[in-house]
Amino acid sequence: TTVDTGSEDYALGGHPDFLAKEIAEQPDALRRALAGRLDTRFATARLGGLGMDPRELRGVRRVLFLGCGSAYYAGEIGAGLVEQLARIPAAAEPAGEFRHRNPVVDPDCLYVAVSQSGETADTLAAVQELRRKGGRVIGAVNVIGSAISRECGAGVFLHSGPEVSVASTKAVTTMSVSFAMLAVLLGRVRDLSVADGRRLLDGLAALPRHVEAVLAEDAAHGTVAAVAQRWAHASSMFFVGRTRCSPVAREGAQKLKEVSYCHAEAYPASELKHGPLALVTPDMPSVVVVPDDELLAKNVGTIEQIRARGGPVIAVTDAELPAGLADAVLRVPRTEPELAPILLGIPLQLLARHAAVALGRDVDRPRNLAKSVTVE
Ligand code: G6P
Repeated sequence: TTVDTGSEDYALGGHPDFLAKEIAEQPDALRRALAGRLDTRFATARLGGLGMDPRELRGVRRVLFLGCGSAYYAGEIGAGLVEQLARIPAAAEPAGEFRHRNPVVDPDCLYVAVSQSGETADTLAAVQELRRKGGRVIGAVNVIGSAISRECGAGVFLHSGPEVSVASTKAVTTMSVSFAMLAVLLGRVRDLSVADGRRLLDGLAALPRHVEAVLAEDAAHGTVAAVAQRWAHASSMFFVGRTRCSPVAREGAQKLKEVSYCHAEAYPASELKHGPLALVTPDMPSVVVVPDDELLAKNVGTIEQIRARGGPVIAVTDAELPAGLADAVLRVPRTEPELAPILLGIPLQLLARHAAVALGRDVDRPRNLAKSVTVE
């Protein structure tokens, strides 16, 4: 057989692999996801595809995000955003668990089916189960015309463009941004102030160029690549995050496992002393996600506790950290604290890819995984 490298090169647009290409495409994907949806006049988001008027939006008492893999982790970020901005209880659950546990379907809950492909069997089955029981379900889907988008009939399209690499990157980022807009919308029919609404809209509008800055820094100075080269040979890595950044750590660990086959485990920072600390040695690096928020001092303390046991720490942060606090620091531009999880995920994507490249993996087609799991 012959490989048509000509067309592949064209599709790759000069990038070494699709993962690199899709990571690089994120600023544009974000611009598309945000286009026409930031209503600065009323300090809210415009998501016409939801088909919900303000009364219906006010009637939502709970939000549950359902998805598989990275879509589930993006749902966790979404749940944090909804709870903080709209003050509605919100959670995320793997769609494949939900569908099989005979869930209580709450008529006042807004269910959000999250899927890049719109074809994942478990997520589709969860939607069907919800519809059978009269639940209100909307989609957060990338592929227009896909099974999940059709079954939901309402929702928000991600507009991230086609994603080829098995590990999801730009779709995850546009999912999180879509959930930030949903959270602002739900918040603004409740108690989120005009000032806070504006602050978040400005923060969202600035995200594409902040992501550009993160990518440009790595391209110019190889910052993340150097970290990957130094630690990719570890047999395992910890990913640590607190509250709103706990899902960032989970998605970061998932990404590293998927493409580099390096074992990784994520845990919430508060759990450190309840078990994981026993495994901290000079051979167990920890990636600690440190947003510049009200818990900064606590996260600094977490880093100190890990380093006191000889564990190497890679801090991923938008804060100014004390010099010498961590073995390596991956900086991102400062953003609104609520939006920090979106931006802090970007260096973790780069870390996973650089680690995979350093270890000679097939970054676009990891063993045993499929882009979209459409069978049981
Ligand atoms: C597979 C892929 C993951 C993806 C998940 C959900 O497991 O390997 O990267 O996150 O499916 O896919 P979806 O298309 O529903 O977002």
